[in-house]
Amino acid sequence: MTTGPLFAPVSEGRLLDFPADPAACMRRLYETHGEVAALEERGQRIAFVFGPHYNHRVLSDPQTFHSQFFPIRGPRNSAQRRLTSGLLNMNGDAHKRHRRMVATPFQKSSIAGYQEGIAELARQMVWGWKAGETRDMSREMNDYMLRVTSSLLFGFDQHELAYEIGHATESWVKLNHEVGMGVFVSDPDITASYGDLLRHADDLESRIRRMIDLRRSTPPGRDVLSLLLQARDENGAGMSDGELIGQAAVLFGAAHLTTAHTLTWALFLLSQHPDVATELVAEMHGTLGDASPTFEQTEQMPLLNRVLKESMRILSASAYSQRVTSEPVELGPLSLPQGAVVVFSPLISHRMPEIFAEPERFLPSRWETLNPPPYAYIPFASGPRLCIGSSLAMMTIKTTLPTILQRFRLSVVPDSAIDARVIATMLAPTAGMPMRLSPATSQFTAPRIAGNVLDWIDLQPGDEDRAVQRAA
Ligand code: HEM
Repeated sequence: MTTGPLFAPVSEGRLLDFPADPAACMRRLYETHGEVAALEERGQRIAFVFGPHYNHRVLSDPQTFHSQFFPIRGPRNSAQRRLTSGLLNMNGDAHKRHRRMVATPFQKSSIAGYQEGIAELARQMVWGWKAGETRDMSREMNDYMLRVTSSLLFGFDQHELAYEIGHATESWVKLNHEVGMGVFVSDPDITASYGDLLRHADDLESRIRRMIDLRRSTPPGRDVLSLLLQARDENGAGMSDGELIGQAAVLFGAAHLTTAHTLTWALFLLSQHPDVATELVAEMHGTLGDASPTFEQTEQMPLLNRVLKESMRILSASAYSQRVTSEPVELGPLSLPQGAVVVFSPLISHRMPEIFAEPERFLPSRWETLNPPPYAYIPFASGPRLCIGSSLAMMTIKTTLPTILQRFRLSVVPDSAIDARVIATMLAPTAGMPMRLSPATSQFTAPRIAGNVLDWIDLQPGDEDRAVQRAA
């Protein structure tokens, strides 16, 4: 890789290196240039920001840095256009108005009402497991979160259709990111998939329409769609069907895999740090006994909180997201024209040694004293577009992990290759997460593992001891 003009933080290279391996590409740029960098190919650039200073610059100024999560909008009046009209693609007043309308189902009072339903789904999942089995925890968490997200969004009584919508959303989101690269990279293979994307969008939209019709024809439930159907703006206007479709698709896409990957990484990190896991089980036992957690109890386990914070720091499910400049702008040493793509990255921002000492070690105890500067720790982004579902996600995870750990000890199958790669902006365990289930009476053990996850975490023996000693 060659550097660009003297002092400019620009690496010349293939823009396609970014979608090919976003995590490695961002890491290289950060190591080469620091907190602001650009990748350039034949005059086309993608800009990157890392760390609190530039995260603040980009995330706190939504007027200059527009959100355009789904860059392929499709023809006017197409399903693709409607599906990409949700919060993640809205800006300005339209974003503010819709954010207020979408917020109600994610307020604390609404979230409390979902908790028992989630606890029940978690219990159903673990009742199907047996000690002695080996299961792919990544697949288990994906399936489970598909069920949870379907139920939350569309009601606990429409499983089959909700499930279909979940699968259709997942492949539509993935295709959007593949084809979306074609916006700033001209590649014939990418653009050829455009028709495929439009067909996927038609299919997904017709399923969501069926669900909306069903919801309209039955008494309102406690699900998000029922609440959105009743939502009104300050002028008393509700959402059109097109708007509902856009918000439902985005909510589904934003909630399902992010939470599933976060659960999988947390289980993985705990299994590799037996002393932390043992301490955590003791905390859970002290707070819950053998019962499922209530909504209040999910907030009463400080070690669980630290474990999740650390897990979301070191293997952040959101690896990156992007903005597009609405006007020419100076971003530190970079002059960006209107329409420039700017990428920000929780994954890389969480690894700055000056803020997070020994960044590659899983040390939940650091959160006893660590209070990072604003915009340094951003698993849910920050500022006016902070993840609207962050409290719901935390409640879901804090309900699910105890339900699993009350019944089983999990350990990765020895010598498994655990890979962490970015798919559709998320850090995913792409080679699965094979884990052995042992009864709750046995000890946690941390066998040796392989795979590129070891590029992202430092599993030195003794980490867990230190973490527990400091937590004690
Ligand atoms: C652990 C799970 C989750 C993680 C790590 C996560 C992460 C994020 C991040 C990083 C963003 C900012 C994206 C950007 O600005 O480009 C975001 C936005 C968003 N998230 Fe989440 N999220 C999670 C769960 C959820 C859930 C459960 C929901 C809803 C059911 C949700 C709905 C949204 C929405 C609607 C936005 C867009 C907000 C806006 O632009 O105003 N997320 N999330």
